[in-house]
Amino acid sequence: MQGNGLQNKRVVVLGGSSGIGLEVAKQAASQGASVVIASSNPERVQKAVASIDGEAQGQAIDVSDERAVATFFSKLGAFDHLVFTAGDSLHLHDLAATDLQQARHAFELRYWAALAAVKYGSPHIRKEGSIVLTTGIAGQRPRKGWVIAASVCGTIEALTRALAVELAPIRVNAVSPGVVRTNLWQNMGAAERERLYESVAKSLPVGRVGEAHEIAQAYLFLMQEGFGTGQTVVVMAAQSWFSGPVVPDWLMV
Ligand SMILES: NC(=O)c1ccc[n+]([C@@H]2O[C@H](COP(=O)([O-])OP(=O)(O)OC[C@H]3O[C@@H](n4cnc5c(N)ncnc54)[C@H](OP(=O)(O)O)[C@@H]3O)[C@@H](O)[C@H]2O)c1
Repeated sequence: MQGNGLQNKRVVVLGGSSGIGLEVAKQAASQGASVVIASSNPERVQKAVASIDGEAQGQAIDVSDERAVATFFSKLGAFDHLVFTAGDSLHLHDLAATDLQQARHAFELRYWAALAAVKYGSPHIRKEGSIVLTTGIAGQRPRKGWVIAASVCGTIEALTRALAVELAPIRVNAVSPGVVRTNLWQNMGAAERERLYESVAKSLPVGRVGEAHEIAQAYLFLMQEGFGTGQTVVVMAAQSWFSGPVVPDWLMV
C-alpha cells in the first residue's frame, strides 16, 4: 500500500481482542507496526495477543471507565495511530417500546468511551499520526426500530468531523461497516445468527455478509493515506433503501 506506511509505527487498538479490531491489529503488525491491543476481558486479550504474528502487547481495560482510560494512556507513552473498535450489541425496539433510560446506555461505549479514548490518547499521538473511530451503516441507512442505533452512528460521524477540526493536524476518520460476521452477533443463537447472515446476504449484490479482515483494510488505508480527515468510509455492499438487511428489530450493531 502507498502512503506513510506502518513500518515501525505504534498502533493502539481499543477493542482489539476480537472481530474487526483484532484484524486491524493483525494486518498492522504484518506491515511492521508494533501494536497494543486492549479490551475488557483479560483472557480474550491474552489469546488475541498470542494470535498476532508480529510485535504485539495487550492490556485488559474497560474503556467505559474514564479513569482507567486516562491511566492507560498516561502509562503508554507516545504512539502513532489510535483505532477505536470497542462495541457491544445494542438491544433496540420500536420507539414506542424503547425505554429511554436504557437507551442512554447505547452511547456509553460507542460515544463516551470513544470520546474519552480520544481525549486522553490524542496528546500522545506523534506528528502525522491519526485516529480511526467506528460507526455503522444504521446512521445512513436506518430502518424502522433503529432510532437509537441511527442516533449513535450519526453522533459518531459528527464527532469525527468535529474532532478533525479540533485536533488538526492529527487526522480523524471513521469506518462504517455493514453487517460483518463477528462476535458482536454472539448473543443470538447459532441458527438464528446464520439465518440473519443468509437473509442479509440475499439483499446484497455480493451475496454474503462482510468479513472482519475486509473491513480492517479500510482502517489500514485511513491510517496510512495521510491526507483525508473528518471522513467516514462506508464498507458495505450497496443495497436498495427499503429492502435493507433483515436484522431483528431488537438487535442492532
Ligand atoms: N459486526 C458488525 O456487523 C458491525 C456492523 C456495524 C458496526 N460494527 C461496529 O464495529 C465495532 C467492532 O465490532 P466487531 O463486529 O468487531 O465486534 P466484536 O468482535 O464483538 O469486537 C468488539 C470488541 O470490543 C471489545 N469490548 C467490548 N466492551 C468493551 C469494554 N467495555 N471495554 C473495552 N473493550 C470492550 C470486545 O472485547 P472484550 O469483550 O474483551 O471487552 C471486542 O474486542 C463495534 O463498534 C460495532 O458496533 C460492527
